[in-house]
Amino acid sequence: MKKLLIATGGGDCPGLNAVIRGIYKRAKKEKDWEVYGSKEAFNGVYSDPPEIIKLTKNKTAGIHVKGGTILKTTNKADPLHFPITDENGNVKFVDRTNILADRIKELGFDAVINIGGDGSQKISQALYKHGINVVGVPKTIDNDLSATDMTFGFQTAVQIASDSFDKLVTTAESHNRIMIMEVMGRDAGWIAIHTAIAGGADICLIPEIPFDIHKLVKKIQSRYEKGRGFVNIVIAEGAKPKEGTIVSRKGEEGSHHVRLGGVAFQLSQQLKDAGIKEEIRETVLGHVQRGGTPTAFDRVLASLFGVKSFEMVLKGDFGKMASFKNNSFISVPLEDATKEYNYVKKDSFIVKGAKGLGITFGD
Ligand code: F6P
Repeated sequence: MKKLLIATGGGDCPGLNAVIRGIYKRAKKEKDWEVYGSKEAFNGVYSDPPEIIKLTKNKTAGIHVKGGTILKTTNKADPLHFPITDENGNVKFVDRTNILADRIKELGFDAVINIGGDGSQKISQALYKHGINVVGVPKTIDNDLSATDMTFGFQTAVQIASDSFDKLVTTAESHNRIMIMEVMGRDAGWIAIHTAIAGGADICLIPEIPFDIHKLVKKIQSRYEKGRGFVNIVIAEGAKPKEGTIVSRKGEEGSHHVRLGGVAFQLSQQLKDAGIKEEIRETVLGHVQRGGTPTAFDRVLASLFGVKSFEMVLKGDFGKMASFKNNSFISVPLEDATKEYNYVKKDSFIVKGAKGLGITFGD
């Protein structure tokens, strides 16, 4: 029997379980493959004894409707930035991919499917360079991977954000307030811009377009002057003013990432400082956007990513990532997949179209 190992890394995302089930179901059609899952990204491989589970019909049945990942995940212990504490208690990050690759070989795996975002696909690329037969599957609610038109989880996040936005509009209208809703999006404002269009926001602030607070004040005042006594704002967590920095704090021990969140409160203060007298309320959606059951679209996308990635394994199409491009499932070199982010471009139709709908970006 040949052995396949699946890992889910980085933040959880609606659709991960649908990919796992898709891989398992497609693999079962071949009679000579067994499918295993590493617990908590590749920590299961590092563990002694290894924490690796054999996937079965019972373990995977019906999981495509469930959020999260049955394999668990982590965004700490990235083998490219593995945290080591020295004798003085200082944490250093070192590259341990060679050890990981050796462990995978020792455990007898013929191929690995690594499901994750940009960071995880960099790990896939490094493992491939160390001789592991890897296939990557793109995952992120932020939709910020350039080699695929869409990542699963994104649609679900936008649906949750739009539903939440609709609920905030009620209060904005009833109280004549300014409501600021902060959504996820570290480097890319896809969730914010989709939510702003779907929800009919007045202002949308994204990382790619630093905003001028005075332009926002003008827009807000003009709405109140016209008698539209309320304003709805969507802001991505990574958005920043033209003269300013993103709102972030140090990541947890073992993580080399900073944590974002809280820009809604900063914006609220900036608007007050710039002369806005109306009442402002802030809502930070946070992990609600990553939770719960995936939308039907994401279940389909994720399930087909599962099938595609296993078929790439069968063909020996390694060192590649499955990708959804122009309505088809293709494979792209991991190297290209991790080269650049999928940013919202300032001159793209989505931004121009949003402006056409009256949404202000503050640029
Ligand atoms: O990358 C996806 C993402 O949802 C980002 O938008 C966000 O900044 C981050 O994950 C939050 O991660 P954590 O779960 O570690 O707080």
